[in-house]
Amino acid sequence: MTTIIDGKAVAASITGAIKDANAELQAQTGRKTGLAVIIVGDDPASHTYVGAKSRMAKECGFFSVQHTLPKETTQQQLAGLVHRLNGDDAIHGILVQLPLPQHLDADAVIQSIRPEKDVDGLHVANAGKLATGDLESGLISCTPAGATVFVRRVHGGDLSGLNALVIGRSNLFGKPMAQLLLNANATVTIAHSRTSGLAAVCRNADIVIAAVGRPEMVKANWLKPGATVIDVGINRVPAPEKGEDRTRLVGDVDFAECAPIASVITPVPGGVGPMTIAMLMANSVIAAHRASGLKVSGQLSKLISG
Ligand SMILES: NC(=O)c1ccc[n+]([C@@H]2O[C@H](COP(=O)([O-])OP(=O)(O)OC[C@H]3O[C@@H](n4cnc5c(N)ncnc54)[C@H](OP(=O)(O)O)[C@@H]3O)[C@@H](O)[C@H]2O)c1
Repeated sequence: MTTIIDGKAVAASITGAIKDANAELQAQTGRKTGLAVIIVGDDPASHTYVGAKSRMAKECGFFSVQHTLPKETTQQQLAGLVHRLNGDDAIHGILVQLPLPQHLDADAVIQSIRPEKDVDGLHVANAGKLATGDLESGLISCTPAGATVFVRRVHGGDLSGLNALVIGRSNLFGKPMAQLLLNANATVTIAHSRTSGLAAVCRNADIVIAAVGRPEMVKANWLKPGATVIDVGINRVPAPEKGEDRTRLVGDVDFAECAPIASVITPVPGGVGPMTIAMLMANSVIAAHRASGLKVSGQLSKLISG
């Protein structure tokens, strides 16, 4: 019997603990968690994501500020805003929604965020801490942190003896995901577009994590029977069965084929997706506690790191 992970339910339990942690922070310090979200330009998908993040921040009881900048914004103007937010004591987390318009250097902006306010976990200081096994003092990239919650719920915190495959090597997901699995003692393989014999590599994996951006690429005959399959991909494909010009979301895993072979699998939508925002809120409340020299509650720590 295959277990289908309900990402919305897991995310909701984490969000509940974040609200409590934020309320405790406010009771102890008189301050709420402050999250600033910056969006440049008018990409509709980015506005949808940012709207969801700002709404969730408010729902968690945070002090939430959204900076919506026109697409003509210069590098200097954006740098100026980040500089101001870096120095604002009421703001504990700064998130710059990616992608930025092409004339802007996204990496320079991300690296200018103070690492302790880098709630997306993309600053080299945070990536470096993760790479050197420091999971305590940095901030971890949200989507891999969310996928790790699922892995831990299935296998516990110690993955000794298990083979894990991460398909995709992006800085945003693949690399931090591999580091998290390695830290949990898994034997980790990272595959990418130059990997040969990917299906055979995949058949050796007890845990398969796909973050490629190719609709339904992972097939049933790629899987070791009983594998845990975490699908990070979000792909919009035509859905003529729903009507003309209609679309639907699918992952990088062929869910219908793979679900009967896997022991545990995440759906798309409703799997990893909801966890990303939950982990962003978790990073924000953690950053706010650290700014006051405090640690987050046991309940939230237990939910996100075992
Ligand atoms: N909130 C969420 O749920 C969330 C968050 C982040 C990402 N995502 C989704 O996850 C997917 C990946 O995101 P990303 O930002 O990591 O993407 P990305 O930066 O485009 O990276 C994709 C990775 O897939 C590899 N790849 C491409 N074609 C391949 C193939 N045929 N076989 C094996 N590997 C292949 C690429 O290899 P090379 O390095 O060799 O090019 C690259 O490492 C996307 O669908 C994205 O929408 C979801």
